Parts: sequence; structure tokens; C-alpha cells
Amino acid sequence: MNLPPVIAIDGPTASGKGTVASLVAEKLGFHYLDSGALYRLVALGSQQAGIDPKNASALGQLTKKLVISFKNGQILLNSEDVTEVIRTEEIGLRASAIAVHPEVRQALVGVQHRFRTNPGLVADGRDMASVIFPDAVLKVFLTATAQARAERRYKQLIAKGISAKLEDLLHDLQERDARDSSRGAAPLLVASGAKVLETSELSIDQAVKTVLDWYQSAIV
Ligand code: DC
Repeated sequence: MNLPPVIAIDGPTASGKGTVASLVAEKLGFHYLDSGALYRLVALGSQQAGIDPKNASALGQLTKKLVISFKNGQILLNSEDVTEVIRTEEIGLRASAIAVHPEVRQALVGVQHRFRTNPGLVADGRDMASVIFPDAVLKVFLTATAQARAERRYKQLIAKGISAKLEDLLHDLQERDARDSSRGAAPLLVASGAKVLETSELSIDQAVKTVLDWYQSAIV
């Protein structure tokens, strides 16, 4: 049986992979999986439940029980709309902390596989190509310098009316990069066979076009 095609787009925080991946999905009419949102939901759920980010077994149990749904651009956790709440820096850092536990990662594998439906899927995260969809037809590692990523995040926050300091953002994302890359379970890495896309000097349109061109070459 042929499974629907997957384009895996991995990369560090604020690399623009979410924007690029969702636009590629839109152009192709594919589904889109924002796997980082799943870790953010576990971060929020565990914070609400008062679970210590180091308590791997309690986090694993909680992850199995969370009722998660993505509907019309909204993200619901146990029926509550948390689309905006999960985007804060605090939840991002907590997501990176809880994501080190194999118990949490394992509990999210099935959830992620269920996004793979026809006509295809664009999946973004850290381990899409290496662990979750190793048979992806195209594997992209999308990155940019830490400075360029901090500046992008700064502009996003300011545009939303959220105050932020560039130095703090740079520090937070370097901390997150270090933890995501050094953890034992499914670390952030350039998967074997992945194409690296450096976006510091690229516009979103150029990055999207590059991925679409690579996909066309991959399926002929
Ligand atoms: O992509 P993001 O910034 O929304 O992800 C938040 C955190 O979740 C990230 O710092 C590490 C974790 N994560 C992960 O471990 N594996 C993924 N596939 C996606 C995110």
C-alpha cells in the first residue's frame, strides 16, 4: 500500500519553517502538521496541572490523556482555544524542556502519524525526517543564523503588540537550540538525505519556491 507523500521540514526555533511549511502545504493542497504545537500543548497542559518539567513519567501519562484538536486554524486543548496562549516564549522554553523525555515523545508518535492522509502532508519540527517520517519523499533542514532568527522573532512579537528585547530573545533561542540539539532522544539534526536551506538572506517566497522545486525534482 502506498502511503501519502510527506515533505519533512526540520530546523531550529524561529527559522521560518512554520511559515514556509504551511505555505508549501497550501500550494500543494497538502495537510500541514506543526509538531512544535504538540510539544507546546503538553507544556501548557503540564503547567496547568502543576507537573514539574523534569517528571518524565507524570508528563508521559498526561500526554496520553490530553485531548488535542486542530480545527480551522484554531488549536484546542481539552476543548479550550489555546491558539495564542501556546505561542509565548515561556511556553516555548517549557516545550523544549519537556520534549527531552522519551515518554512524552513516544506518546506523540501516533498523533503525528495520523496527520498523514491524502493527498499528502507537509510536517514541520525537529525530528520529522529522522524519526517520525523517515520515508519522507523530501527532507529539508531549514535554518538561519541565530541573529537573523532573533530579529525575525522580535519583529513578529512587536507586530503583535508584545514587548520584547532582542538580546533576551537571542539568549532564549540559543538556550533552546543547545537543548534541542544535545538531548539524547531525537535531537535536532540534519537527517541523512536532507537538503539544507539557509534562509538568512532569502525571502519567504524564495524559500517556498526552493522547497517546491526540490519537491518536483524528488517526485519525477
Ligand atoms: O517549533 P517550536 O518552536 O514551536 O517547538 C517548541 C519546542 O518543541 C522546541 O523547542 C522543541 C520541541 N519540539 C521537538 O522536540 N520536536 C519537534 N518535532 C517539534 C518541537
